[in-house]
Amino acid sequence: MLMNRIETAVVNSPARRGLQRFYEVPLLARLGGRVAGGRALEVGCGSGEGTRLILDKFGAARVDALDLDPAMVKRARRRLARYGPDRVRLAVGSATDLRAAVSAPDASYDAVFDFGIIHHVEDWRAAIAEIARVLRPGGRFFFEEVTATALARPHTGCCSTIPATTGSPPGNSWPNASS
Ligand SMILES: C[S@@+](CC[C@H](N)C(=O)[O-])C[C@H]1O[C@@H](n2cnc3c(N)ncnc32)[C@H](O)[C@@H]1O
Repeated sequence: MLMNRIETAVVNSPARRGLQRFYEVPLLARLGGRVAGGRALEVGCGSGEGTRLILDKFGAARVDALDLDPAMVKRARRRLARYGPDRVRLAVGSATDLRAAVSAPDASYDAVFDFGIIHHVEDWRAAIAEIARVLRPGGRFFFEEVTATALARPHTGCCSTIPATTGSPPGNSWPNASS
């Protein structure tokens, strides 16, 4: 599902990039470690800041990144041009079909990254199944997501975080939601 104008403006803002760079990435790296020299995939790459951080902070050798929105992929291409095609490959496509989007075979990535996109994906189970399919045995899925509480009450819930262990924060019904 494409974003509305307000969310697009928020996602493309310096504040969003700062949150990703100074909070989300250090937290995810602390929880899951680096992927030095590895091959990574980012689903829903938006304007490409996450891809840049996967290369520079997580140490991936190469990142394939995709987004449903061609305008976002265009932004990402500009942001990531300096890395060259050997390190970054960008595509327009859906996380629900990674063969169509990036020709991803089974067990082909060391890590998959999702920075806040699953709540946009109507058939999110298909996206999770695809991510599981393309991760190699022992590969890691790094993701962050807004909670159902935050989605329902953005003015009070926007700073809810999922605890470091797997699972949901109190009152979060997202994992059982139908879409
Ligand atoms: C909230 S934004 C997050 C963008 C970026 N990951 C970030 O953290 O700034 C959600 C992104 O997911 C993309 N998206 C929505 N549905 C998608 C799908 N089925 N497959 C891939 N990307 C999708 C949107 O176009 C948008 O760029």
